[in-house]
Amino acid sequence: MPTDRVSFYVNDELCEVEIGPHTTLLEILRDRLHLTGTKEGCGQGHCGTCTVIVNGKAVRSCTFLAKRLEGARVRTIEGLAKGGELHPVQRAFVEHGAVHCGFCTPGAIMSAVALLEANPHPSEEDIKKALERNLCRCTGYVRIIRAIEAAAQAQRAMPLPPSIPEIKPPLRTVGRPLPRPDAEAKVKGEALFAADLYFDNMLYAAVLRSAYAHARLLKVDTSRAKSMPGVVAVLTAEDVPGSKVHGVSRPDWPVLAYDKVRYVGDAVALVLAETEAQARAATEAIAVEYEPLPVVSSPEEAIAPDAPQIHEGGNLLKHIEVRRGDVAAGFASADVVIEREYRTPTTEHAFLEPEAAVARLDEHGTLVLYVGSQIPFADRRQVAASLGIPEEQVRVVHTWVGGAFGGKEDIAGQIHAALGAWVTHRPVKLVYSRQESIISHPKRHATVIRLKTGARRDGRLVALEAHILGDTGAYASLGEHVMTRTATHAAGPYDVPNVFIECNAMYTNNPPAGAFRGFGVPQSNFAIESQMDILAEELGLSPFAIRRINALRVGGTTATGQVLRESVGLMETIDRVEAEMAKYPTPEPNGEWRRGWGIACAYKNVGLGGGVDDSAGAVVEIDEEGNVSIYTGAAEVGQGLPVILPQIVAEELGVDYRQVKVVLGDTALTPDGGPTTASRQSFITGNAVRRAAIQARESLSGAVAEAWDVPPAMLVFADGQVRAGERTMSLAEAARLAKAEGRSLRAHASYTPPKTVPLGQPGDMHFAFGYATQAAEVEVNVRTGEVRVRRVIAAHDVGRALNPIAVSGQIEGGVVMGIGQALLEELVLHQGVPQNTNLRTYRIPTVTDVPEIVPILVEDPAADGPYGAKGVGEIPSIPTAAAIINAIYHACGARVYRLPATPERVREALSAAGARSKPA
Ligand code: FES
Repeated sequence: MPTDRVSFYVNDELCEVEIGPHTTLLEILRDRLHLTGTKEGCGQGHCGTCTVIVNGKAVRSCTFLAKRLEGARVRTIEGLAKGGELHPVQRAFVEHGAVHCGFCTPGAIMSAVALLEANPHPSEEDIKKALERNLCRCTGYVRIIRAIEAAAQAQRAMPLPPSIPEIKPPLRTVGRPLPRPDAEAKVKGEALFAADLYFDNMLYAAVLRSAYAHARLLKVDTSRAKSMPGVVAVLTAEDVPGSKVHGVSRPDWPVLAYDKVRYVGDAVALVLAETEAQARAATEAIAVEYEPLPVVSSPEEAIAPDAPQIHEGGNLLKHIEVRRGDVAAGFASADVVIEREYRTPTTEHAFLEPEAAVARLDEHGTLVLYVGSQIPFADRRQVAASLGIPEEQVRVVHTWVGGAFGGKEDIAGQIHAALGAWVTHRPVKLVYSRQESIISHPKRHATVIRLKTGARRDGRLVALEAHILGDTGAYASLGEHVMTRTATHAAGPYDVPNVFIECNAMYTNNPPAGAFRGFGVPQSNFAIESQMDILAEELGLSPFAIRRINALRVGGTTATGQVLRESVGLMETIDRVEAEMAKYPTPEPNGEWRRGWGIACAYKNVGLGGGVDDSAGAVVEIDEEGNVSIYTGAAEVGQGLPVILPQIVAEELGVDYRQVKVVLGDTALTPDGGPTTASRQSFITGNAVRRAAIQARESLSGAVAEAWDVPPAMLVFADGQVRAGERTMSLAEAARLAKAEGRSLRAHASYTPPKTVPLGQPGDMHFAFGYATQAAEVEVNVRTGEVRVRRVIAAHDVGRALNPIAVSGQIEGGVVMGIGQALLEELVLHQGVPQNTNLRTYRIPTVTDVPEIVPILVEDPAADGPYGAKGVGEIPSIPTAAAIINAIYHACGARVYRLPATPERVREALSAAGARSKPA
């Protein structure tokens, strides 16, 4: 390939490089200069994670050709902080909670810096315009906007105080809106994600994916690919030494396809080469013979008696039933019965960091795997099984994760990278392209939900029947568990005495479906919350009234028969939302725009429940210098463990939370924390860490109390010291004293939550629930069908807000994700083939889609939660879609039964609605 040479400055340092005609600035920054603060989220100029500043302007470095660089001045995130001082924009991102997973952060900061240099007084609209091509999937953008406003004010010497939600009086550290300690590394571009790792002699892997959604695999000829430049090995199923299938729940997913392919993301062969381009080129030289089979492209087709069989055991993954009371008698006693059908689509997580894994063999022959996944210990189990080696010979090291939302619980590139390193004895890096990510990883289940509800004239629900069909795609993933939640939550957060719900999770030839924030509950929540509004109108009740009449309370019973004994803050969330709504003027029509409010409630289990082992371990260690470390196998996916866990330890040991080091998810160093899913880690690992901190304190207390001859209960741990009356001792001195006495400075604790039982057995299926009510105000254009969300009020019972900034950030991010589910997001599938496989055609909300969001924290403590806290990771995105759909109806009379409510679907619903839809 012809090469050229360019000279330019990167962060004021002269840089001279050889380039080809297609070399991009991003390639130079990452692969040659290893300035990995600049991220690659899509490689197509759609996501903004690669934004840098060239000659004063923000540009997308993934599409910026290097031949344009001669003499240019390039600034990257690494060049912003000067002399150890953060740039004001970096500082503001840290202080205002604008950093979650941090993968979008460097790009967003560079866009903001370019904006403020050109316009020191930007309006909110200016900020939104400047960042409209910087996607963020975690934060909901609210705090990013706030941080940029604050940075602008700081530059004018008028600092804007961080926005702090209303909270109960905090303890010493717990309950305070403290900034995340990991944010500083993330705003500086120093936080390493898996794709940022480089090792000497490293190979690159690329995967050949199936050409068909369903076919018999007859032959894979790798001979030509093996002779391609730079290729070191080409592996097929025959080269997998151990288990040829993996699966986080049930092993049915081939590591490399061997008999059939069941979806277009199936891996057929793995190429290992000196460069990524060589590896990808060689995949195209692999000749594969297929015998195409009929494609099953929907759950309705899959359940038909004559449907082609996808797996030997048939097309049914799981049949689920929820029964309570006598549903026939319940309907017989109803004054009003409503029956409707609702549909939800397949949707994509669109985390900003595509899947990446790096594997190498260490000097002891241990396979070390660096990956940003949600379940490091499950990765270890599956990698070891496929390599046919003991688990102890595999070490999984959790890197930072650029968003997950349930989409990084399954194996992606872990086994392939490990297999490559195992076979070649060289480090191997595998990074998915954005298209590959969208095609291959599990999605949110598409569902068809037929829902029948009966109520008495006074609004009391007396019966509910639901028939749910779920598209679980080609492999099991977590489908049976996800669909179980869809079913168990289908009656909503309401006490319905007579219930029958059945759900069939069907295999199809679509991409597998698995965990996605809300774990199946958003689908049935859309159905029940739409139905509640329809019922309310039929009965002449307000949306608030019907919900209050039926809302779960302490003493109430869920659809699965679980009696709720405490911490049910649902009614307070309803009251708080109604009170907040009253502060806004009644929406008036405006030309062809109609405005209206809609509400929806939700509940969501905290933890796995269902009788599954839900425990976690943690270690808290104090060294002789008084430094404190936490070791836990939990994964951080942006939700905030790096601040929550130190806050808990700081609370118990009286130290500065910023001095507490956290080691997360290293299978060689940390106890198993279980999966990071089901909003469980703050509750479960939080409790384990708290117990370990208390044990560590007791160890020190014993030594100090003996030395001072005082009861241990007299000792106070505060400000890095131990005190009893006038006497003080530093934590380091106390640690040395304890060590000298032979006491352990390393406390290992585990936490197992209260017992739960599987669905259908008497007892509690879950040990805690979060509750929420949201209201959305929308405006609908009755000519075009366009919908704009003007504001969302989101009241959430979180038990106790361990860190109000982190909790509010979760709520804002969840709401914006819910807006995407309501109005924008659908992975379009044609005969099993995804049609919108980039972040331009699969549209997620941008900063310009963000309405005013009012988070309200309700604190109805859970007796077993750490300081009363319950998990909040999933529930914020659950009721938003239904609230928006109900608001559309109240604005213009159009009832949408199928998500997303695209302009076309709204127009169809408008025509069905008749007169109210006519422009004024
Ligand atoms: Fe923006 Fe995660 S913080 S994508």
